[in-house]
Amino acid sequence: MKKDWFEKELEKYSKLTGYKKPEKHSDVIKLDSNENYAVSKEFLEKIMNDAKKTMDVREYPLGGTERLVQNISKYIGMPKEMIGVGNGSDQIIDLFLSNFTSKDTTILTSDPTFGFFEERCKLYSIPTIKIPFDKNMTLDLEKFLANSKKANVLYLDTPNNPTGFQFQKRDLERLIREFKGLVIIDEAYVEFSDYSVVEMTKKASNLVVLRTLSKSFGLAGLRIGYLVASEKIIDTFTRVIQYPYPLNTLAIEAGILTLQQSKYFTDVANLIKTERSRIITNLRQMKIFEVFDSKANFVLFAAGGSGQRIYKALIEQGISIKNLGKIGTHEGCLRVTVGSQDMNSRFLTAIRDLLN
Ligand SMILES: Cc1ncc(COP(=O)(O)O)c(C=O)c1O
Repeated sequence: MKKDWFEKELEKYSKLTGYKKPEKHSDVIKLDSNENYAVSKEFLEKIMNDAKKTMDVREYPLGGTERLVQNISKYIGMPKEMIGVGNGSDQIIDLFLSNFTSKDTTILTSDPTFGFFEERCKLYSIPTIKIPFDKNMTLDLEKFLANSKKANVLYLDTPNNPTGFQFQKRDLERLIREFKGLVIIDEAYVEFSDYSVVEMTKKASNLVVLRTLSKSFGLAGLRIGYLVASEKIIDTFTRVIQYPYPLNTLAIEAGILTLQQSKYFTDVANLIKTERSRIITNLRQMKIFEVFDSKANFVLFAAGGSGQRIYKALIEQGISIKNLGKIGTHEGCLRVTVGSQDMNSRFLTAIRDLLN
């Protein structure tokens, strides 16, 4: 092998952008990353303290992920043999792409899709067919069906980040049934939406459903993701592909205690849905934005030529939202996370003040 092989490889990788994390601003109301501030910090602190009492960090977490899986199984009502875990659903996405795809496989997805997923496809040089969102920020099922034979993998985040769009259930079910390759349905925001397709994994042996505790459970910092799929996929994933200890002990123990309190988090998700409607209604009343429906814990709105100005002015007022720029034909797209009631009110007041 030539000596300069590594230098050339490194040069190639160094030219990639990689996943761009949100800018870190100090002392701001953080509504830029779809985290969950409607969950009480004290409630989670108590869970973390209780978790600490049960663990011995000198040991590898042997048997830990299995206990976590049992608790996930109870929460979603699916057999434990059909569930695997990852260090965030990001890591599960990465493992599926790095092991099952290459430059010779094609992925069918939407445009936009989850940013991290898109960057990983670039990292692994995987060709993608991207179906753009239309003017109303909805997707056309027929366009997916028409392209489904050209692709090996279908990846859809549903609800979609950043639009909040979710297909009608029967449309998504049809697409999953008709797609012959690997289907990855990313349900990171499912608890804020109307339905899940997780039950389909009992019949569809090519379907992987991704979930996370980062959103509705407010545990983004602990990095707990999971997948639901056929027993064969889960056995192969867990035994061969996944690391022996993908999650740390604290995450495992806190994850278990959190899942055991799922009623509290269902109430929080309901509050977020109500707050989401309040944000949509208020933004629409301002009559200056195009505000899109959402089934997730965020709202996308197009501010046209004022997008950048509004984003910057909000930062100056101590509120950070996500500046997405142009999506399809819509200029100045901004995405705001639905936070606590107080945060949402402060966001709405700030934006109203800006417009006056
Ligand atoms: C669609 C989608 N999938 C997955 C994730 C990441 O989830 P996790 O925190 O479990 O890695 C996100 C986070 O923003 C997301 O928007």
